[in-house]
Amino acid sequence: MISSLTGPLSASLFITRKCNLSCPYCRAVQPNRKDLDSAEWASIIDRLHSWGVRLYSITGGEPMIRKDIYDIVTHISKTRRLIPWLISNFSTMTKNKIDRLSDAGLFFLTASLDSLSDIGVKSDGSILDLLEYAKSKNIICSTITVIHRDNIHEIPDIMHKVTERGIVFDIGFFQHVGGLFSTPDSDLKVKDFSLLEDFRKQMRKHKLETGLIAPSWGYLNSDLKMYQEMSWKCPSAKDAFLVINNDGRLMPCQEYISNINVLAIENLNDPIWRREKAEIVNRCAGCYYGCYYQKVTVRPLDVLLDLYTMVKL
Ligand SMILES: C[S@@+](CC[C@H](N)C(=O)[O-])C[C@H]1O[C@@H](n2cnc3c(N)ncnc32)[C@H](O)[C@@H]1O
Repeated sequence: MISSLTGPLSASLFITRKCNLSCPYCRAVQPNRKDLDSAEWASIIDRLHSWGVRLYSITGGEPMIRKDIYDIVTHISKTRRLIPWLISNFSTMTKNKIDRLSDAGLFFLTASLDSLSDIGVKSDGSILDLLEYAKSKNIICSTITVIHRDNIHEIPDIMHKVTERGIVFDIGFFQHVGGLFSTPDSDLKVKDFSLLEDFRKQMRKHKLETGLIAPSWGYLNSDLKMYQEMSWKCPSAKDAFLVINNDGRLMPCQEYISNINVLAIENLNDPIWRREKAEIVNRCAGCYYGCYYQKVTVRPLDVLLDLYTMVKL
């Protein structure tokens, strides 16, 4: 309990660098790198647990292409009694696999969904039926949409179609940091920021009405100039969110890999990690990743507003 008060509460695990899709904005895939096996992931999770990590988002590459995905979820949920969250492109998802994930103790399930009109690779609306099925098994379900030049006009429609089925709607603005996660090319970025601002307004209203909009109030009200200029910098002294590479190395964020294996240090105060993280953050020109921004920026008033919405609904 004490470590969970001091350490980072969440970690993102790149359990594989392999993927069966090729998204134009994503560089996370490195198929030649060997992934740790499930026993090695169990040791990593145990170490992260001792540092205070309670919520584990399982990502990649495509996590569902691993046959032992159920063992990893079971270790988090049943063996350690922690919270597993799986993010998938859903291209190979079936009801049977959802049954197995549910038996393994999956808590949150997120499907990437960039369009409902066949634009790009993640545009199959039938994933909403599968998410509804997962909901019936008491798994909390959401979609996540990367907002970019080609889908901006249909985003409000996607938001309504997702939430009217009782599924949580989440977004990420297309990033172009040019590290190991995103492309360096900003071509896909929405040029007309008034469209983004207008949509954020709609999201705020819908969040109050339904409670099914995932981004925090702080994020929905933040200054979009940070996205325009990609100028947000995470604080290097604080580990609000950890990322682990498929070979067990610590990553200050999903764009950069350190040389330090999680099992090589006892805790996050180790000067080797602190120094390497500070150097990487120093070198980075900036980004505006919502996941990091929201974990670093938690405002008490926003939490109160969420509580109010929960009670009201
Ligand atoms: C890398 S994927 C891994 C999980 C799974 N393969 C999937 O597609 O959901 C995790 C999330 O990152 C998003 N993503 C990838 N590249 C991005 C970028 N350049 N900017 C914003 N989000 C990005 C994906 O769309 C997906 O929602």
